[in-house]
Amino acid sequence: MGDISLKIEHLNKQFVGAKGTVTALRNVDLDVREGEFLTVIGPSGCGKSTLLRIVAGLDTQYSGSVRLNGEPIVKPGIDKGFIFQEHRLFPWLTVEKNIASDLSLNDKEIRRKVDALIELVRLKGFEKAYPRELSGGMAQRVSIARALLRQPRILLLDEPFGALDAFTRAHMQEVLLEIWRNNKTTMIFVTHDIDEAIFLADRVVILKPRPGEISAIVPVGLAHPRKKSEPRFSGASPEGTQPIRIRRGIPVRGRRGNLANDKKSLAT
Ligand SMILES: Nc1ncnc2c1ncn2[C@@H]1O[C@H](COP(=O)(O)OP(=O)(O)O)[C@@H](O)[C@H]1O
Ligand SMILES: [Mg+2]
Repeated sequence: MGDISLKIEHLNKQFVGAKGTVTALRNVDLDVREGEFLTVIGPSGCGKSTLLRIVAGLDTQYSGSVRLNGEPIVKPGIDKGFIFQEHRLFPWLTVEKNIASDLSLNDKEIRRKVDALIELVRLKGFEKAYPRELSGGMAQRVSIARALLRQPRILLLDEPFGALDAFTRAHMQEVLLEIWRNNKTTMIFVTHDIDEAIFLADRVVILKPRPGEISAIVPVGLAHPRKKSEPRFSGASPEGTQPIRIRRGIPVRGRRGNLANDKKSLAT
């Protein structure tokens, strides 16, 4: 992993509305390295989307400093890819045209990149299909390809697999890891599923319930490729390894308990 890609210092965010002031993020300090896969978990309403929107440049009303490769983030741009829970594809465009969007497929270089991305997200044969002909997982893969074509320095994913069934979701996690291994894109992935957070991440950032404050940052320390059937995911760790457990928002390493139980402590 390389240099610091994203540096967040003393980030505070409040929403001022008719009903008063809501503190969405409080004193967030975070460094993300180039090529790192970071997941962010926390109960709903804790500020996960707000954090991503700020990093994406979609919200600039905050105090503190947020820098991407040393530059303050002042507006959205193609250097920051954003994947939402719903795919947001153009219904009237085919898969390949959705990926290209404003770029022309008649450009040889664009054509070559789009074809490579279609391979990468495993959509070969569906180039001419329309969004209505795709499953949820396939549509989400088109969104990811569209973002990657712009060669973002960072890919921000806001509960991207939240609307998918469990089987598709597990498959998409594998696909995303493969993309990450091939592209080395820095990833910030928001989820409220602790298994997903640990399965994907180099480090997991745990946010406290409102107001969004970092409770802990946990390095996962398991080599890729990972298997969910591995004993370390269920808490029954083999000799010399310690599973990661979350107890009331606090990560602990130990042999007792398992992630399925700990997940309950994060539920809202
Ligand atoms: N545009 C907004 N105006 C007012 N309050 C907001 C707005 N967006 C989010 N909030 C509030 O900020 C807090 C964090 O929201 P959000 O970042 O969406 O949480 P999460 O993504 O973790 O569920 C919540 O209390 C939410 O109600
Ligand atoms: Mg959200």
